[in-house]
Amino acid sequence: MRVTFSVALLGATSVWAATAALSGVERVTNLPTVSNKFIVEVAEASDIPSKRSLGTPHERLYQSLRERKISFDVRKEYDAPGIFVGASITLTDAQDVANILRAEGVVAIRPVRTYGAPVPVSHKIVSPGDAGLPDSESTHISTGVDKLHAKGITGKGIKIGIIDTGVDYTHPFLGGGFGPGFKIAGGYDLVGDAYNGTNTPVPDSDPLDQCFGHGTHVAGIIGCNPGNPFNIRQVVGVAYDATIFAYRVFGCTGDTTDEVIVDALLMGVKAGMDILTMSIGGADGWTEGTASVVSSRIAATGTIVTIAAGNDGASGSWFTSSPGNGIDAISVASSDNTVIPLQALTVEGVTHAPIVYYDTFPLPVNGTLPLYATSNDTTIVDDACNPLPASTPNLAGFCILIRRGTCTFVTKLANIAAFNASTAVIYDNGSGFAAIEVGDFNAVLIQAEDGVFLAEQLAAGVSISVTFPQSGGSVNFPAPTGGLVSTFTSYGPSNDFYFKPAITAPGGSILSTFPVPLGSWALDSGTSMATPFIAASSALLFAVKGKSAAVGKTARTLFESTAQRIPTNLTDGGPFQTVTQQGAGLVQVYDAVFATTILSPAELILNDTAHFAGPQRFTVMNTGNSFKTYTLSHIPAGTAVTVDPGTINVAVGPVPLSTDYASVTFNTDKFTLYPGQTHQVIATIKPPKGVDATTFPVYSGFIYATSGNDSVHATYLGLAASLENKQVIDNTDFFFGIDLPVILDSSGNVQDAPTNYTFVGDDAPTFLWRQAFGTPIFRLDLVSPNIKLTGTLNTRSSNDAPTFSFAHPHNGGTFAQVSILGPLLEIDYLGRNDEGDSLDYTVIQTNTFANGTIIPSGSYRVLLRALKVTGDPTNEADYESWLSPIVGVAA
Ligand SMILES: *[C@@H]1O[C@H](CO)[C@@H](O)[C@H](O)[C@H]1NC(C)=O
Ligand SMILES: *[C@@H]1O[C@H](CO)[C@@H](O)[C@H](O)[C@H]1NC(C)=O
Ligand SMILES: *[C@@H]1O[C@H](CO)[C@@H](O)[C@H](O)[C@H]1NC(C)=O
Ligand SMILES: *[C@@H]1O[C@H](CO)[C@@H](O)[C@H](O)[C@H]1NC(C)=O
Ligand SMILES: *[C@@H]1O[C@H](CO)[C@@H](O)[C@H](O)[C@H]1NC(C)=O
Ligand SMILES: *[C@@H]1O[C@H](CO)[C@@H](O)[C@H](O)[C@H]1NC(C)=O
Ligand SMILES: *[C@@H]1O[C@H](CO)[C@@H](O)[C@H](O)[C@H]1NC(C)=O
Ligand SMILES: *[C@@H]1O[C@H](CO)[C@@H](O)[C@H](O)[C@H]1NC(C)=O
Ligand SMILES: *[C@@H]1O[C@H](CO)[C@@H](O)[C@H](O)[C@H]1NC(C)=O
Repeated sequence: MRVTFSVALLGATSVWAATAALSGVERVTNLPTVSNKFIVEVAEASDIPSKRSLGTPHERLYQSLRERKISFDVRKEYDAPGIFVGASITLTDAQDVANILRAEGVVAIRPVRTYGAPVPVSHKIVSPGDAGLPDSESTHISTGVDKLHAKGITGKGIKIGIIDTGVDYTHPFLGGGFGPGFKIAGGYDLVGDAYNGTNTPVPDSDPLDQCFGHGTHVAGIIGCNPGNPFNIRQVVGVAYDATIFAYRVFGCTGDTTDEVIVDALLMGVKAGMDILTMSIGGADGWTEGTASVVSSRIAATGTIVTIAAGNDGASGSWFTSSPGNGIDAISVASSDNTVIPLQALTVEGVTHAPIVYYDTFPLPVNGTLPLYATSNDTTIVDDACNPLPASTPNLAGFCILIRRGTCTFVTKLANIAAFNASTAVIYDNGSGFAAIEVGDFNAVLIQAEDGVFLAEQLAAGVSISVTFPQSGGSVNFPAPTGGLVSTFTSYGPSNDFYFKPAITAPGGSILSTFPVPLGSWALDSGTSMATPFIAASSALLFAVKGKSAAVGKTARTLFESTAQRIPTNLTDGGPFQTVTQQGAGLVQVYDAVFATTILSPAELILNDTAHFAGPQRFTVMNTGNSFKTYTLSHIPAGTAVTVDPGTINVAVGPVPLSTDYASVTFNTDKFTLYPGQTHQVIATIKPPKGVDATTFPVYSGFIYATSGNDSVHATYLGLAASLENKQVIDNTDFFFGIDLPVILDSSGNVQDAPTNYTFVGDDAPTFLWRQAFGTPIFRLDLVSPNIKLTGTLNTRSSNDAPTFSFAHPHNGGTFAQVSILGPLLEIDYLGRNDEGDSLDYTVIQTNTFANGTIIPSGSYRVLLRALKVTGDPTNEADYESWLSPIVGVAA
């Protein structure tokens, strides 16, 4: 007996015609949970003193399950009193979930969810011979790490546990060995090479990774030793004297689950890690998954837990990753490196400095090439878009200068190739200096002014030739987005309105170690790279302030209150980036470590209008040794317009920002503190006025307490709408040209009339829906075809009967006026579907109830219900519902 629903994801960026999309449905389970596997949390012995005699909490749990005739297998036990006690179990019958929840001592039961392999946004193997790589010095300078290193603070004596793909500790710059005395001093392989998220882990004590590499890159950001072979370019870990433990939770390919992640987290706690870091995650928008909950509990004990915010920036707001969504974990956003490593060509025949071209690596061209321009007109809009005149000479051996514009680069290059040219330099027309798509051609982009200079010289009859140095031609070009939040960083907040991400660190174009057999060094981008930066920064904090739970518990506040707010643009004076993507700003590690003003709490969460927490209190403490007079000020960030106007669709990234700001007033604007004194500030924050609540605007900003050069801030976040008004199920035709949800018949057509299915071959109904937003409770039930109710979302109205009411939905069975014949699916804390890079939706096909029993022959309708965010689970009006046409089972 198995739940046989299958669920599929389709990747697409365009709007699909129904039949085109539906015929392509791949019937592969895509729910982020593993069917029939659950993690049960139980109360600890100390919580139920009268039951102490009955043995361990685990024994009591199994006893209680056996008494309830629940059939189960134990997969893993967790026993970390004060953090997490429970077991991962496989249920023969998934419907026993509700039954288990009622068992004595059971605190929670959560589905096991999977996490995809960590994939950097960009990845390039590099070698010390490659010129033009960004050193880590620029990231250290922008965050004050260089100043800590200058003081000899390098993380000595601090233990950091990396939960990732393992580490190649044979790398000479990661210590070259494993075990006590080495940099990589310990850890464990929880899974083995062949693990892929579905098969059985084969653990051993050696976390070596020479097949994947991600964890080795992470380890280098923390711990790469100085003195590596990149000549003057230093690749140095942020805390290169820290001790690293590697917990391997991924095999060479495939996924992992929170069953394994929780095990690794608890192992790290047991081994005495001061810091645990995970560059792992999956978008879900909720704080409730097991790995999130356990991460948060660990963080609450004073062990610092840093976790990636996710790389789903293109998908818009309310989409940060778990386990980073864990309430007390530090969820980390990425900023772009301040420099881009580029190459320069040299010029002969005229006097001109080397000309920068947009490529990380030298254009593979030997020798010196005479330059030929396809036009002498430096304003030509369609240079080389048409076949060149027949009078054009044989261009073999030349480098061709072409102006950008009108047609594609490839068209221009094909036209010069017709005259045997194989190398080209294209000059910009004002579109912007960036990487260009040139197919297989040997061509690069240069800046407009350089191209104009060259073209003018050629027009004046000067002979020019160019050389592309194969080494020594590197330049660190100032990145136009340097220091800005990387566009790939996922946007929060969580659906339950937690402050995610918390803080930003450099994560774009980061050079670090890679497994020796895979090339030793790589240039990667992602929040995966920003996360270890904060873990290592935490080690520097512990190294100065001493290891203690008290320091660990204040770390997030120290980092947040001293961070540097990030603009949206370096040049145009636009709004500051929304807090939902930058958190409290770019980490300033030196300032966090040596702050002499402590502001707490550093996160002011105003929640939505229905749960508005207007007056906010925070304290300012002078921990310096002289008196200070502080003034308070407010700097707003752009208000994130999180839903597209006139739609129910979350706006994709980059999320539009408005300048409708909140207003802030204080009970006092100025105050003086003697050393050791504390002052409480009451800030009254009013949401922006006149905004469109149907766009669910998330306003945010910074409140500064400033005394001379000493400046700290609290960061606030609120929603100028009520979350309960956010529609969660898509009932529009926006994406498919047909109103959703739908049942599709065996030919993939929308089922409008009653239809019988045999469940033989393809003759089965397919249920398709989209989550326009997350929901705390989702369920699908089979009901009688004659039921008298109208779903709140139905447009193809089946009848005009009054709507239903029902009791607590978790009880299953019968709702006040709706008789349920059997549940098909129930999921708590379901995230929304993606509509960014890849439009997705959920499909279910089943011929069984949730418990695996075959649905008997007969006539049914499917009733969908989804609770709105912040809705009351016992209140009918807080659910959206939809009733299907009649489905006949004729099996
Ligand atoms: C995982 O590996 C097993 C073999 O060990 C294989 O049967 C299964 O299909 C793999 N799963 C995935 C998702 O690749
Ligand atoms: C350039 O010259 C080197 C050394 O002679 C040779 O190995 C390489 O293949 C040449 N590259 C090209 C693109 O001709
Ligand atoms: C291209 O090169 C070939 C071989 O050298 C030559 O025969 C041909 O004329 C050249 N084409 C043009 C358009 O010059
Ligand atoms: C530059 O070329 C692009 C691509 O053809 C075009 O869209 C743009 O308008 C041009 N810009 C200028 C300033 O000519
Ligand atoms: C550009 O001007 C130079 C110098 O007058 C001339 O030799 C060349 O043929 C011109 N190029 C084109 C494409 O007209
Ligand atoms: C916001 O309010 C909702 C509804 O009361 C609550 O569930 C949620 O925990 C609140 N969020 C925070 C961060 O306090
Ligand atoms: C900054 O603003 C300017 C002017 O509006 C624009 O041209 C530029 O592309 C923007 N830069 C970024 C990184 O968005
Ligand atoms: C479905 O099957 C039932 C029972 O055999 C029958 O009464 C009904 O007419 C069928 N409906 C359709 C639309 O074929
Ligand atoms: C499974 O669920 C259905 C519908 O609630 C119920 O009729 C059936 O008895 C259940 N099967 C088992 C084995 O409990």
